[in-house]
Amino acid sequence: MSIADLFRTRSVDDLIRETGQGEQLKKTLGPVSLTALGVGAIIGTGIFVVIGEGAKDAGPAVVLAFVLAGVTCAFSALSYAELASAVPVSGSAYTFSYATLGELIAFIIGWDLILEYGVSVAAVAVGWGGNVNEFLRSAFGFALPDAISKSPSEGGVFNIPAVVVVLAITALLAVGTNQSARTNAIMVGVKIVILLFFIVVAITAFHAGHFTPFAPSGVSGVAMAASTIFFAYIGFDAVSTASEETKNPARDLPIAIIGSLLISTVLYVLVSVAAVGIAPIRTLAGSDAPLSAALREGAGIPWAGALLSLGALIAITSVVLVIMYGQTRIFFAMCRDGLLPKRLAKVSPRFGTPVRITVGFGVLIAILAALVPLDVIIELTNIGTLFAFILVNIGVIVLRRTKPDMARPFRVPLVPVVPIIGILLCGYLIYQLPVETKLRFVVWLVIGLIVYFAYSRRHSRVATEEPAELPPAEQR
Ligand code: ALA
Repeated sequence: MSIADLFRTRSVDDLIRETGQGEQLKKTLGPVSLTALGVGAIIGTGIFVVIGEGAKDAGPAVVLAFVLAGVTCAFSALSYAELASAVPVSGSAYTFSYATLGELIAFIIGWDLILEYGVSVAAVAVGWGGNVNEFLRSAFGFALPDAISKSPSEGGVFNIPAVVVVLAITALLAVGTNQSARTNAIMVGVKIVILLFFIVVAITAFHAGHFTPFAPSGVSGVAMAASTIFFAYIGFDAVSTASEETKNPARDLPIAIIGSLLISTVLYVLVSVAAVGIAPIRTLAGSDAPLSAALREGAGIPWAGALLSLGALIAITSVVLVIMYGQTRIFFAMCRDGLLPKRLAKVSPRFGTPVRITVGFGVLIAILAALVPLDVIIELTNIGTLFAFILVNIGVIVLRRTKPDMARPFRVPLVPVVPIIGILLCGYLIYQLPVETKLRFVVWLVIGLIVYFAYSRRHSRVATEEPAELPPAEQR
């Protein structure tokens, strides 16, 4: 094998043709359920929990951190929209890189996304467990004992609520995408309503004085907060993992990617202004459930705090649902390409979903969720995602050069300027993350490289198969 093999690409036409052959997923999603899928993945632990971390770093200027992180995502979302419309194949950034940057980079991205999606689901589920307790405490005055509701590093033994939510969502995903999308749409409706409720209640108890001093830690505090708050926006990329289950991917994927990011950004900025307006920064920074705490302690309305923690539970459930869904689809694409064992990608004839992958990941994530705490994982998830965004932006620039005539139903304006700004913004946020996070990320990538050279490189479908006799590419 030569060095050139490491950069072998899959032809975009083959990728698209292949989706019509072999193991197939059912096409059930339209623009509204797809946008709901995006919002379902985006709004969750970030706004309900991580906002407190941002407030700690930036003070009231956490509002600007939401803007900075949102703008960073907007640039990359445009690149995702272009690639998703041009390469509407399951697997998101992984598949885009396979078509543009070559197999090694694609594998690294796929591996990176396992970290982003898989580990973050475990962490988000832990956040869910914490909110169960917050809700029980504020509504009924009791909470589950630490032994069965916290991970070992937090003084517990086994986090049962986190395991329960992961296994319940696994069952839902295994049974079918359409049912999952419907359940998701309901949860998304609930979380938008609960955030609007928060904003409205905040208007009645707003203190402009909470905004001074506005940025006690200056620009660096805002930048640090943005690198953490970034977590709140993760998820719009999960829309592109649903390409093969979308009825009209060329039109609907860009709508859903950009639409879901826009809806979330507007809500986040309003909610963060509202949160700072009703509660002193120390209340937000010192709580595991900052928005509930803002209503209970800041506005002095305990029933509203209880209602909000119930809303947070529902919101986080849908994040678990969509991110786990994205995880199974990326893994599915990697197995189908032979970079991971192909037999895992079997689609159940009964449910039309990749049941083995879904259940396998569900169990692994449940074990992690039982044992892993939330905080460190958030930064690790962020670095993985920012790295994936950088490669997607590079992918747009490369593909414009290598395949200038390819059909692109959605086009990023002003290439290469816009993707380059996207790359610089992501790089800036990575730079803000702690050194330990960067080291952990490198360790994960090194393990991935070992897997690649020991297994994937030889089993890759591009390496092992003669070009198949395929029907002519669909005219797009
Ligand atoms: N953006 C998702 C959340 O905030 C990951 O929970």
